Amino acid sequence: MKRTINIALFASGTGTNVENIFKYFQKNENIRIKCVLCNNKNAYVLQRAKNLELESLLFDRIMYNDEKLILNYLKIREIDFIILAGFLWLIPEYLINQFPNKIINIHPALLPKYGGKGMFGENVHKAVLENHETITGITVHYVNKNYDEGSIIAQKTVEITKEDTIETIAEKIHILEQKYFPQIIENIL
Ligand code: GAR
Repeated sequence: MKRTINIALFASGTGTNVENIFKYFQKNENIRIKCVLCNNKNAYVLQRAKNLELESLLFDRIMYNDEKLILNYLKIREIDFIILAGFLWLIPEYLINQFPNKIINIHPALLPKYGGKGMFGENVHKAVLENHETITGITVHYVNKNYDEGSIIAQKTVEITKEDTIETIAEKIHILEQKYFPQIIENIL
């Protein structure tokens, strides 16, 4: 019998996606959210993980570059998939090689537009607004060694109106992420 699929979440921010994904799979016997790996000691996701009784690992650049340390951490927990839920560092090649087509990212825009280094959070929505886009959305994609360039798995869109601001676009994206991201993950698994 196939054992449970174990997932590690990587996050750098407030962790609304982490919490949503965790709760979505909480009662699923085949899929387990095992841990959160975080690169930012001030990130609220660490407190959220504590509240959810979800194990977390805080790491710095030195730890992140220590291939053995990170791979061993994931190996001990029998991690099968990695989900980036607002994680802002580039994924190193050692992780991509170890998890081929098993690292998934969510991006708060319709790639290939508005991706790349520095394109996260409000920066994305600001660029979308300044370019007078009439739609935006979310992209879930496989991760390769370049920011936001891996093959696209799914996209969901939402209209932008003349009244929209960075804040209202952020809210629309948040709603899409909460509604669709866990479902898309489930479909892939
Ligand atoms: C999400 O909107 C996610 O799409 C975005 O960071 C936010 C994290 O929010 N990711 C990127 O911008 C990746 N380039 P959260 O910490 O509340 O889940």
